[in-house]
Amino acid sequence: MNAYVGTPTSRVDGRAKVTGAAKYAGEFSADGLAHGFVVTATIPRGRIARLDTSEALKVKGVLDVLTHAHRPPLADKDEAWKDEVAPDEGSPFRPLYDNSIKFNGQPIALVVADDWEIAKFAATLVRVDYQEQAFATDLEAERGKAAEVKRPSKPRGDAVAALAGAPVQHEADYFVPTEHHNPMELYATTAVWDGGGRLTIYDKTQGVQNVHKFLCSVFGKNPEDIRVLSPYVGGAFGSGLRPQYQAVLATLAALALKRSVRVVLTRQQMYGLGYRPATIEHVGLGARSDGTLEAVTHEATAVTSRYEDFARNDVGWAEQLYKSPNSRYSHKLARLDVSTPCDMRAPGAASGVCALECAMDELAVAIKLDPVELRLKCYSDRDQSEDLPYTSKQLRECYARGAQAFGWSRRNPAPRSMRDGKELVGWGMATGVWEALQMPVAARIVLTANGHAEVSCAASDIGTGTYTIVAQVAADALGLPIENINVRLADSTLPQAPVEGGSWMAASSAHAVLGAAEDIRQELARLAKAIPASPLADAANVILVGGTIAKDGDKSCAVSIADAMRYGKLERIEKQKLNQFAEDKSHARNTHSAVFAEVKVDERFGVIRVTRVVSAVAAGRILNTKTARSQIMGGVVWGIGMALHEETVMDHRFGRIMNHNIAEYHIPVNADIQDIDVIFVEEHDDRINTLGVKGLGEIGIVGVPAAIANAVYQATGKRIRRLPITLDKLL
Ligand code: MOS
Repeated sequence: MNAYVGTPTSRVDGRAKVTGAAKYAGEFSADGLAHGFVVTATIPRGRIARLDTSEALKVKGVLDVLTHAHRPPLADKDEAWKDEVAPDEGSPFRPLYDNSIKFNGQPIALVVADDWEIAKFAATLVRVDYQEQAFATDLEAERGKAAEVKRPSKPRGDAVAALAGAPVQHEADYFVPTEHHNPMELYATTAVWDGGGRLTIYDKTQGVQNVHKFLCSVFGKNPEDIRVLSPYVGGAFGSGLRPQYQAVLATLAALALKRSVRVVLTRQQMYGLGYRPATIEHVGLGARSDGTLEAVTHEATAVTSRYEDFARNDVGWAEQLYKSPNSRYSHKLARLDVSTPCDMRAPGAASGVCALECAMDELAVAIKLDPVELRLKCYSDRDQSEDLPYTSKQLRECYARGAQAFGWSRRNPAPRSMRDGKELVGWGMATGVWEALQMPVAARIVLTANGHAEVSCAASDIGTGTYTIVAQVAADALGLPIENINVRLADSTLPQAPVEGGSWMAASSAHAVLGAAEDIRQELARLAKAIPASPLADAANVILVGGTIAKDGDKSCAVSIADAMRYGKLERIEKQKLNQFAEDKSHARNTHSAVFAEVKVDERFGVIRVTRVVSAVAAGRILNTKTARSQIMGGVVWGIGMALHEETVMDHRFGRIMNHNIAEYHIPVNADIQDIDVIFVEEHDDRINTLGVKGLGEIGIVGVPAAIANAVYQATGKRIRRLPITLDKLL
């Protein structure tokens, strides 16, 4: 059954991507395509007193300028604007809805012209007068006003008293700045008007059905009036989970002009959208001198907008990792005059586990215990918040394999003790943890008598490799060469799928395919056995292999797919299956990793280089060792960015982002990346799902920033609790 699953199969969409045949949302064209350019607000809070579009409208080639006062209707009720992943609390942002300004960079007009350059120029002629209101954008200044919004788990014992009474106490604030999404592909939507009032929307999104439902609801359309496609996505990882405002604007303009319209945001305008919220992570660890934990406390205070409560699971991860009789967690939000944050790779965990793992390192230093030893000493075999065992947890093995590959045993624990020429060398480590989620997904398989199959599902492939794993699973389950499998994804008319996020799509889509393939197998088995004098007449079990229906255990006893279908007078067999995973609250489900990092620091300049990272990951069965490795490498690279580079800098006097471009908002480049070694620790899990798959989009980043921060400490003796660790903090 496993010709492809578990192998390093190359991406089935690889050729399309590298040859440019793969089209992205902003690359689709249409007859008479018009172009929209967004005008954005330059104050963080207030009202539009006057919006003068007359000069812009005079420009030759300008078709219209849409504003809150001049546009087709938009839904009024909050509910109509709630998408599949909208926060429960609050009222989603509506572009061009009214004259209120909620954040700097908010879209306030859309100039539509025959040509993008004309629209862009005319946008500079739109005049705006504001009534400004007092505003606040600084998390640290507003910390005292933050309100508790959730406790991810019940407190256990009395953590505050236990912490105060513990022989060794460590308590500190760790700061993670706001970080903006900077995928290669800009936010883009092409709305194609078909003449009859129907729209085909090419959108940069992680969930075409989410966007479809959202647009139908916002514009009061019937489901058949709008179709949303996103065949390729040039990076997303949270930025495309919620429908973004350019999708509304492109649709709005197409409806207003009865014409196809494309709206692509500029890199600068993307900073008015999704970001990882700045967070102050307050962690307290109380321990005995041998490292046994007595208390864990973790309180996160994060940024959200004034109109929506966005809160993720920053705190509570110690429940999964470290035994402690007492624990207490809370999550607070400071509501500021900014746009709502959004998910960004391992939302919550990337920030919260960073703080926890830096704190664990500080504890290890305080009690003079090796950081790996400390983690093993505190190792929890159960999820303490629910007191549940895990479906599988090979984290011990991750520590062992990672440490060995890294050469951890050769580490001199004393800070500033290792050198390479003029550089200080530091070795640090951290644990990573994420959830192994799975969601209902449907897949349809159409098998034709020539042994080709088309597999379709509305799921997106955000670059993670969904096309490829779907093809692998289908090829194996149908017993066909992978070249005979055609995969169609990311079209709202295809079988049901949620947004691609949370690392749930590999397990979810694979089992949908498996379910549909099983129905095909049964149909083929029925036909093959019914053929007069069938060699399979008495076979108890039949499998699909090598383009045939064969007796299990004796592949030579077989009927070809073509013969079975000819006998049934069928040219195609079509099966669609919605896979719902059985609910099982008896076990916790997580993925884990151990991350080891080496840094070299030139103290004369404060320059930090991450020279080696070893990430040992336990994530159940790996469907594709090549794309999975790429996922983890990408996560490590992003973790390096989080540790050393990424930071959205705001001038709080104006409530305006100052580095809204990738010249000044730093992300790692090739020169920043050296050795990355990915190890998949074997983890057999027959409880989680049939294939034992857990998914691994997010786990790759978790723990990486802490491992690097801990390595910087070991190199320099300086404990930097504020990301990113830029050179000024080391001087
Ligand atoms: Mo992921 S942050 O759910 O795309």
